[in-house]
Amino acid sequence: MSRPSIRVAVIASGVLLAAAGTAAAQAPAAPTFTKDIAPIFQAKCEACHRPDSIAPMSLVTYEQSRPWARSIKTRVAARQMPPWHIDKTIGVQEFSNDRSLTDAELATIVKWVDAGAPKGDARDMPKAVEWPTEQGWNYAKEFGQTEPDLIVKSTPWTHKAGANDAWWKPVVPTGLTEARWVRAIEIRPSTVKGRKITHHAIARLQQTETDDLATNPPDANGNPLPGTFMEWAVGKQGEKMRPGSGKLMLPGSKIVWDIHYSNGGEEITDQVELGVYFYPKGQEPKLRQVLHLMGATNAGGVDLPPNTVKATEGYFVLRENGRIESFQPHMHLRGKAMSMEAILPNGGTQVLSHVAEFNFNWHNTYVYADNAAPLLPRGTILKITGWHDNTTANRANPDPNVWVGYGDRTVDEMAHAWVNVTYMNDEDYRAEVKARREALGLTTSERQQQ
Ligand code: HEC
Repeated sequence: MSRPSIRVAVIASGVLLAAAGTAAAQAPAAPTFTKDIAPIFQAKCEACHRPDSIAPMSLVTYEQSRPWARSIKTRVAARQMPPWHIDKTIGVQEFSNDRSLTDAELATIVKWVDAGAPKGDARDMPKAVEWPTEQGWNYAKEFGQTEPDLIVKSTPWTHKAGANDAWWKPVVPTGLTEARWVRAIEIRPSTVKGRKITHHAIARLQQTETDDLATNPPDANGNPLPGTFMEWAVGKQGEKMRPGSGKLMLPGSKIVWDIHYSNGGEEITDQVELGVYFYPKGQEPKLRQVLHLMGATNAGGVDLPPNTVKATEGYFVLRENGRIESFQPHMHLRGKAMSMEAILPNGGTQVLSHVAEFNFNWHNTYVYADNAAPLLPRGTILKITGWHDNTTANRANPDPNVWVGYGDRTVDEMAHAWVNVTYMNDEDYRAEVKARREALGLTTSERQQQ
């Protein structure tokens, strides 16, 4: 039973790598802002680069964009912007929340800057995107509601004009008195101004589990570690569970916030709101999604001598068949790269994902697309490797001459990933593998080979 699943993952990535290779040739001969660049900026940059949003400058008009042309080329060519740090040559490449540039888009921007960043014909300019000025809840209408079933707010934070970045971590009870299954989650700053200072927000769910499969290792004080419930950054608002699956919130649960605030140029006070939509009672999903912490999770696990680059490994055994839903690397300032590799019960191995240019400022969660989420049999080992760069080559490194160990402060280190797993019994797993093969159009002979 172990073979079919990994072949599916191999095939999913193989197909995409081929597609990416041909795209580079597609940049137009003489790109202009109005015709070629504005549509890309609208789709991939404006979510953050527009007035009153988190990025330092607007890229909406030619006049606003032109002075940044060189910087744009540098950031885009290095794939630092848009912030999406998955290595595009390794592992699964289809994500439901991918905000990266295609090779063709990247080539077009570089070509445009190299040609002197011409404006082009004003008549080619696409219609301006109408970004919402008012803040609604994304899924409420779809579920026939006016707002989420449960709203949990972080306690207010005031960020003074010019203040340094701050990380705000209040713990707020959900108030739930019974277990409920979650079908969608949204996070938003509670005010429009709040968007200028809210760089990103992570909401973790802390609760006492009775299900053994859902239990994470305890923290230093013996309390169960909270799992990430949802991570929010500008440009992303909601997360819907895959059909037939959900997260389970238990009575007495708490939300552990981790909010990164940055300078908004004026004094702003804000709260972040978590909106939760439940499956109606009687329509509970069959499959449970569990957020696991995988990798080097404890004191002693991370040991970084001064002026060295070092790899730290950790292993997690899947005790039940599962679908891997997402991958979120977590390291601090010395973090350099992280990979997640599957070691199958039949001895085969496959790198599922690799983040080559980790950046502490961006806690991206990489959510696999429906037909790309790896299906792995019980007994598979997930190996998480984190590489840290404690040398001067790492520009984020505050001090390469000190030893660094595991700890909570940003000057300490961590080397783990948050990985969302949907567990399945043998019957459900077989059905899932079959459906995947059909969706990917694998031929009969390929099926027989497996
Ligand atoms: C998810 C939000 C987000 C998206 C999407 C995004 N940016 Fe950014 N960008 C930022 C933030 C925040 C900064 C400032 C902090 C930093 O440099 O990381 C920034 C910084 C930059 C800078 C550096 C500005 C300087 O000070 O030199 C450039 C250039 C840039 N972005 C270009 C782009 C382009 C081009 C796109 C689209 C192809 C894009 N960004 C998409 C959020 C975003």
